Amino acid sequence: MFDQLEALPADPLLGLISAFQNDNNPQKVDLGVGVYRDEKGHTPIMAAIQKAARQHLETEDSKTYIGPGGVIGFVESMKKLVLSDASNAIRENRVAGLQSPGGCGALRVGAELLNRLESEVTVWVSDPTWANHIPLISSTGLAIKSYPYFNPENGGINFDAMRDKLATLGSNDIVLLHGCCHNPTGADLSFEQWQEVTTLAAKRGFIPFVDIAYQGLGDGLNEDVQGVRYLSENVEELLIATSCSKNFGLYRERTGALFVQTKSAAQANAIQTQIQDIARAIYSMSPAYGGFLVDRVLADDSLRLEWQSELNAMAARVKTLRSGLLERIKQVGIEQDFEFVVAQKGMFSMLGLSPEQVARLRNEYSIYMAGSSRINVAGLNTQCLDYVAKALKAVL
Ligand code: LMR
Repeated sequence: MFDQLEALPADPLLGLISAFQNDNNPQKVDLGVGVYRDEKGHTPIMAAIQKAARQHLETEDSKTYIGPGGVIGFVESMKKLVLSDASNAIRENRVAGLQSPGGCGALRVGAELLNRLESEVTVWVSDPTWANHIPLISSTGLAIKSYPYFNPENGGINFDAMRDKLATLGSNDIVLLHGCCHNPTGADLSFEQWQEVTTLAAKRGFIPFVDIAYQGLGDGLNEDVQGVRYLSENVEELLIATSCSKNFGLYRERTGALFVQTKSAAQANAIQTQIQDIARAIYSMSPAYGGFLVDRVLADDSLRLEWQSELNAMAARVKTLRSGLLERIKQVGIEQDFEFVVAQKGMFSMLGLSPEQVARLRNEYSIYMAGSSRINVAGLNTQCLDYVAKALKAVL
């Protein structure tokens, strides 16, 4: 029977992990998968998380099921982390939510919810978007299309084209937006552009689906969600998929949450049963561990402060690497304009290289990045900046 199935090529992002590990070049540089790395290339466990883990180990006295929504304290704290304590939707009990296995789990449950609607909806994703958005959403059977987003000529957003496309959408359309630190481009909407998107959503009736996986890794925990919060206050319905992989460093613990903002508390109650039912049919319930740790960190003032300062330091390091890279690019005499590297936000930057140039960097210099020429800026370090800039000059 299984002769009918053939081996598939490696995942475009996860495949880079083993390709890099198998490379013997001592100068190799990993700018592939989006994980935070320190100066030594290590992805540390955050100190606040480690303390929470110790406390949890000492106090957890059962491994019985936690229930279909996941760790309730975690879900409530994450809701506020994204939407704020002042959120009207939260105060009015209009936000259903559950813990999910990472941001991917949240995206998938959200997509399955949309697939249960009577109306046939189309999900619109930015061009380009995170590679895994496409299989996560389309494997539910939902139609998926893209709206213009990135402007490769200046490394920013082609907002006019985006706005023109969104202005043609209606109530059977779902628009997937990156809450901050756009993956793969690093090009974010300004607050004014979020306001325009909000006005269009309210006027045209399309539903925003916000994927926010990097809160705190751009300009700050609150700054990064200004647009999402504005959206939540000014449209009735939206979905949010959030992840603790990067900002809590919990990658392998698969910790995330889905929130669905509705028009009324009664609707939120109905949606709560739907999303729990969807989760039950796919994986029953989310692993609890990461949720317990985040819940502890967010509920304890001193752990929360420690986590925030660690997160701020991570974001600051990425910014320093951005300016360091730009400086070296200029020093080695590259004339092409790379100023966008410092304007883009979060861990990623889209360098605008051709597939051939990306392949040369990998084959001749052992510099690994996504095929789109997305680099994980956090994979750089002060030692390799020169090497990367010189290699870039050689392939341009
Ligand atoms: C990435 O974009 O590299 C990360 O989000 C990791 C992943 O799962 O693709």
